[in-house]
Amino acid sequence: MKIVETISAIREEVRKLKAEGRSIGLVPTMGFLHEGHLSLIEAARAKHDVVVVSIFVNPLQFGPNEDFERYPRDLDRDERLARNSGVDILFCPPVEEMYPGETAMTIHVTKGVDVLCGASRPGHFDGVATVVMKLFQLTAPDEAFFGQKDAQQVAVIINMVRTFNVPVNIVSCPTVREEDGLAKSSRNVYLTEQERQEASFLYQALRKAAERAQAGEHDRERLLQYLTGLLEGGSGTIDYVEALSYPALERQEKLGGRIILAVAYHYTKARLIDNIIIELDREEA
Ligand code: PAF
Repeated sequence: MKIVETISAIREEVRKLKAEGRSIGLVPTMGFLHEGHLSLIEAARAKHDVVVVSIFVNPLQFGPNEDFERYPRDLDRDERLARNSGVDILFCPPVEEMYPGETAMTIHVTKGVDVLCGASRPGHFDGVATVVMKLFQLTAPDEAFFGQKDAQQVAVIINMVRTFNVPVNIVSCPTVREEDGLAKSSRNVYLTEQERQEASFLYQALRKAAERAQAGEHDRERLLQYLTGLLEGGSGTIDYVEALSYPALERQEKLGGRIILAVAYHYTKARLIDNIIIELDREEA
């Protein structure tokens, strides 16, 4: 596995690979790798000659009161995991390499960001889109692999490549879960023992709501009331519960077609998100 830290070096690697006609699968990450990331690497390996994993904690996507400084980092462990998973190139640039000097320009996302996480994290998806666009420019992947846990991120990136005609196919991979159903996340390390024991109720609640919708409850308000009720017994606080069309992320009073049921929940030091995507029959008007 090659470890690459500079823009000139990653460009040179990519130039050689392209000249050899080899396909590239990119897995963008912020490190502190877990099984969710490893499943993305596996999916990329199954389809591509070369797998590039980027590790970069992107300051642009953190708000002023968010966890940029204390975001978990362990590059030695990440290197080991990446090597053992068959990664070919690990691209881990320092912040000064990705953002030398003052940032002169960013991508401003205008659709699908006033809902879900975008509503309480202004500018977050501008930061995500900007860094992912930079990573696409630097690594020129044929496909890029993202986890469905961050379903709004996937929707934003699909819109970005469509808007800017970026020749990269976006692959969304299923959420990897702990045995009790909790979605794997680098931020799960922030949970207290008691919170960790409780936290799988988020997924259980989503599943119950999904079952109710599939059994015929297509009224958005009533479904969200039901989901809220399931979460109210928890020791944390609800940030949002939502039901939207996917990937357009639009509100429908009567749910139909491809729908995302999503939740964000605050514990003492961790904000957890999870979602389920379901297909519902469209009711006749
Ligand atoms: O999902 C993440 O880890 C990040 O948002 C990403 C896509 C690597 C961009 O920084």
